[in-house]
Amino acid sequence: MRTQVGIIGAGPAGLLLSHLLHLRGISSVVLEKRSRAHVERRVRAGVLEQGTVDTLVEAGVGERLLREGLPHHGIELRYAGTSHRIPFEKLVPGRRITVYGQQEVVKDLIAARLAAGGDVRFEVEDVALHDLETDRPCLTFGGARLDCDVIAGCDGFHGVSRPSIPEGVLSVHEREYPFAWLGILARVAPSSEELVYTRSERGFALHSMRTPEISRFYLQVPAGARVEEWPDERIWAELKARLESVPGFTLATGEITEKGVTPMRAFVAEPMQHGRLYLAGDAAHIVPPTGAKGLNLAVADVRVLTDALAAYFEHGSSGPLDGYSRACLRRVWRAQHFSWWMTTLLHTFDDDDAYARRLQLSHLDYVTSSEAAATTLAENYVGMP
Ligand code: FAD
Ligand code: DHB
Repeated sequence: MRTQVGIIGAGPAGLLLSHLLHLRGISSVVLEKRSRAHVERRVRAGVLEQGTVDTLVEAGVGERLLREGLPHHGIELRYAGTSHRIPFEKLVPGRRITVYGQQEVVKDLIAARLAAGGDVRFEVEDVALHDLETDRPCLTFGGARLDCDVIAGCDGFHGVSRPSIPEGVLSVHEREYPFAWLGILARVAPSSEELVYTRSERGFALHSMRTPEISRFYLQVPAGARVEEWPDERIWAELKARLESVPGFTLATGEITEKGVTPMRAFVAEPMQHGRLYLAGDAAHIVPPTGAKGLNLAVADVRVLTDALAAYFEHGSSGPLDGYSRACLRRVWRAQHFSWWMTTLLHTFDDDDAYARRLQLSHLDYVTSSEAAATTLAENYVGMP
């Protein structure tokens, strides 16, 4: 079997890459370890930058997103008994975010690939990468072999692509946070029109949403926390304790339909390429979710990689492919910094003393009272051009 681009992973990165390549007349095969039902049900990100929305709409997969996605023109920061709005329409005119679940993006992309006769294989076992340093790399899986011109490693943080790069090639930058996020979905109308990022002495809490009937929440919990330690009553009590910290705000509760714990880490492997292998999305970098950047970075990588592959296949020009990693890493590091900044602004750290807590409150006060500081948050949050 042969294809131009062998893609490992049917997350947002792999599926979007396959779709964008198809629009440029470039063939690909997507190999995914899990079932279609599993990847379509996996609840994760929900905040799409304008650039991400534009990419999906231009690629013809934005119809449902435009219909069902919730456009937001600001977020709320809540701390020390007060709430402050960061108004995007004033600080970064014309730019906004859209709340639309990642698994809905994945469903839309899978539907588009299959409708166009795309080759997406689920439940593929034992994918292995070979001959990356030659111009005929190949993938083997479940007894089959796929010869490729190029391989795209879109298989997330725990995939096989990055570990297939020989030792000594990659520089790795990494930070583990001493806490995690417990995320839930609940069948209840959101109690706020906009996302509420809350700093409380009990830890961070985030009120987000999916639809007018479904809310999404996150709680800062200790690293290593397990879902079993968090029965529904405990989750609601803790969300109320952290979020009901301003006069007049009452949190509506409902049936919890999904629970998961996400470790908080930052990670960058550079360069994002070796020989004929190119890494995109979480396979190359992870950010703590406080800045809502992971999915958006994956989409940005794929946009750059598509253009570089088109230059290669259409004109035989390898310059853009050679510069792929460099072109992506500037945005990646901006997102790393912003995600670290939002995380330290809003979470409690066990080793913080009274001085550190006062600094954090002063920082929040600055961000919510200075237009310059608020603009820094807003322009990063909606996504740098
Ligand atoms: P993935 O979505 O991880 O996809 C990789 C795919 O590869 C998976 O389907 C996997 O099954 C497959 N795979 C793995 N190994 C193999 C193998 N050996 N062979 C074949 N296939 C394999 N980002 C945001 O932008 N905004 C947010 O609001 C946000 N919130 C988040 C909240 C949570 C709770 C979490 C967990 C993440 C959040 N993120 C957010 C991050 C975002 O979900 C990820 O950055 C995004 O999923 C990256 O997409 P990807 O395609 O690179 O990787
Ligand atoms: C969501 C996730 C995030 O990481 C974030 O910063 C904001 C919203 C969400 O899933 O809705």
